[in-house]
Amino acid sequence: MKRVLSGIQPSGQLTLGNYIGALKNFVEMQHSHECYYMVVDLHAITVPQEPAALREQTEAVSALYIASGLDPAKATIFLQSHVHQHAELGWMLTTLTYMGELERMTQFKDKSAGKESVGAGLFTYPSLMAADILLYNADLVPVGDDQKQHLELTRDLAHRFNQRFGDTFTIPEPYIPKVGARIMSLDDASKKMSKSNPNQGSFIAMLDDPAVIRKKISRAVTDSGREVKYDPQNKPEVSNLISIYANCSGKSVAEIEALYDGQGYGPFKKDLAEQVVAVLEPIQQRYHEIRKSGELYDILRQGAERAAEQAEKTVKTVKEKMGFLAR
Ligand code: TYM
Repeated sequence: MKRVLSGIQPSGQLTLGNYIGALKNFVEMQHSHECYYMVVDLHAITVPQEPAALREQTEAVSALYIASGLDPAKATIFLQSHVHQHAELGWMLTTLTYMGELERMTQFKDKSAGKESVGAGLFTYPSLMAADILLYNADLVPVGDDQKQHLELTRDLAHRFNQRFGDTFTIPEPYIPKVGARIMSLDDASKKMSKSNPNQGSFIAMLDDPAVIRKKISRAVTDSGREVKYDPQNKPEVSNLISIYANCSGKSVAEIEALYDGQGYGPFKKDLAEQVVAVLEPIQQRYHEIRKSGELYDILRQGAERAAEQAEKTVKTVKEKMGFLAR
């Protein structure tokens, strides 16, 4: 069985982009793969976080994992900070990473742009992400398109380590959805849908009330014209909405185009809102039940135990190969 690992940062509300680009695939893959899914709280602190907010968001993201359909009996679900080997291997891989490689990372460039002071952790973030993946010798990493560059670096670091110290790490492959790898903002299709956008209308949060979801979709920017046609070059706004529709309904792009042929944007947007609500409303109901039940803590504790077992094996091997003395 192939091994899968992925994670999401608890650095704000999860959006429909996180769901379509990543979480939905996490759930699908758990049936046919050995899966490790974490909430990457160590990555979240690469930008300042209020402690109370970090606690709340970490619980919220963990609960959304379960509410979206991740099954603790099938997948190992845990917090990155509960398995100290992530920080440990992260450091060792940082020493193998070149400054030039980190300087080229577009996520770093975007997140540091215009800031007066930037934490060094934001810069070395990709080495920690590589450790997350290589600790479990993951074959596949389900992510959205924006994480492709980090995955490339992970592959390079695995190669580099294997060459220098002998065959150790599996070289992982990204697993990126064909439609929905990059869900765009509802107010501007040249920007990725993101929880950090100050315009609340630009993203749909997984926990948005159905009435709010309907309002945001009705106000979503559409291209001039009235044809519901998938053409990302010339009709980026409508194409983005079609991607969302396809992902939420399971219909193909061609089916959606045929369904709204000659009807204009109005009926399409109305139905799209209902498709999104139909996906998110049951998740929201389960989310509130899980938060009330208190079962989350047991799930995360057991997940961390299972993950640590695997992680420790890798760290032990890595330390031996690098020349650390055994205790
Ligand atoms: P993060 O927390 O920014 O996002 C989590 C996942 O959601 C995807 N995503 C999107 N997909 C499509 N459209 C969007 N608008 C959109 N916005 C976000 C991201 O591509 C990602 O898959 N570095 C990672 C977290 C991480 C990680 C890892 C991932 C840390 N360690 C190990 C995989 C394996 C990040 O910042 O994701």
